[in-house]
Amino acid sequence: MRVTVFGTGYVGLVTGTCLAEVGNHVVCVDIDQAKVEGLNRGVIPIYEPGLEPMVRANHGAGRLEFTTDAAAAIAHGDTIFIAVGTPPDEDGSADLQYVLAVARSIGEHLSRPAVVVNKSTVPVGTADKVRATISAALAARGADVAFEVASNPEFLKEGAAVNDCMRPDRIIIGSRSARAVEQLRRLYAPFNRSHDRVVVMDERSAELTKYAANAMLATKISFMNEMANIAERVGADIEMVRHGIGSDPRIGYHFIYPGPGYGGSCFPKDVQALERIARQHDYPARILAAVEAVNDAQKGKLFELISRHFGGDVSGKTFAVWGLAFKPNTDDMREAPSRTLLAQLWAAGARVRAHDPEAMDEAARIFGERGDLVFCDSPDAAVEGADALVLVTEWKAFNSPDFQAMARRLAGRVVFDGRNLFSPDAVEEAGLAYYGIGRGRTL
Ligand code: UGA
Repeated sequence: MRVTVFGTGYVGLVTGTCLAEVGNHVVCVDIDQAKVEGLNRGVIPIYEPGLEPMVRANHGAGRLEFTTDAAAAIAHGDTIFIAVGTPPDEDGSADLQYVLAVARSIGEHLSRPAVVVNKSTVPVGTADKVRATISAALAARGADVAFEVASNPEFLKEGAAVNDCMRPDRIIIGSRSARAVEQLRRLYAPFNRSHDRVVVMDERSAELTKYAANAMLATKISFMNEMANIAERVGADIEMVRHGIGSDPRIGYHFIYPGPGYGGSCFPKDVQALERIARQHDYPARILAAVEAVNDAQKGKLFELISRHFGGDVSGKTFAVWGLAFKPNTDDMREAPSRTLLAQLWAAGARVRAHDPEAMDEAARIFGERGDLVFCDSPDAAVEGADALVLVTEWKAFNSPDFQAMARRLAGRVVFDGRNLFSPDAVEEAGLAYYGIGRGRTL
């Protein structure tokens, strides 16, 4: 089938590439000329496991093209995906200007029937706006072309996006048009083999499904962080509690890991946007507001533990920080808890020696040159002579350090484990003090 994808960010690039991988002819269009030129040379703008070879192979085979030419791209596709960004406005609602600009452009150039599919995370009711915008642009040029609009939200996780796209849990198709549903079913058939993962619904329900999924996951995390804060105060260990509750299949083990707060480009933005949508419909979303407030506070948790340990004064001290990305297997630092920690350490006069397997270039771009930040080539190098180790992101490479060797390097002999990754016993046996999240027994 012939597919057009607007936007070569995470969602657009991964979706377009996976659709090409199963044999479709995909044209990806972006307004960023440098990015498009790079992609045509096989340069991938993001770090995403497995993506680069797949882009190169499909580009080489002529099934995956990148262009800035919107008109040509619109002429190409029977299915046209909108996968451009929806950054938050100042008030937290999703900014639709890019989505609607694409819709206008489709209306200006469409010359034969197509199904327009919205993949971006957008406020409920956007499919109607996209439909109206395309219709208005068609009418302005006196064109009468049949088109359908569908909402087909994505559920990709950064770091596992290719796998999530090739082996989705569910494929949500929001459309009242039988033709659109049929066309999308055919397009997704290669990803829908062993059992039917397609859930068909109306556009608004599909749009809300996306927000509800992210809000539910964010709620699980904030709930566990709240439990961790209670555990810490009552002398319980949240890791025991996590095991204890996760074994109930109604609760489950997934997404109940306490930590330094959720980050990334989705949860913080989507929880805020959904809260805003609710408010616009005269409903105060109390749970969402609490989820956000707990998360904001949690991002200061590591600094709170550090500050307590050092008696409120960390000026002149040096902290080894392991992990800068908001989670492992990505170089993305958007809303990363590390950013809050570093800002708090610097404001208190401390220095940072950081190591991250992928995000150090991104960190250098964000923070620029500064005397109180040194990037280190290895986890060991970061620890050398530091007053404390702070683990912020649970990369595999940090899983099982040699704590005896670490004790010889780490001048301050204290470990702050923001992901409860280490065994407190192993750390303490090496003569190091241990602090985790919600591990009251260690306080
Ligand atoms: C999230 C969703 O998981 C995807 O399903 C969704 O498609 C995507 O947003 C999106 O809307 O595009 P992502 O932002 O890549 O994916 O990251 P997650 O793996 O969900 O992690 C989000 C944050 O939660 C991270 O900061 C992570 O460290 C934190 N987290 C996760 C916890 O603190 N505890 C947990 O138990 C799980």
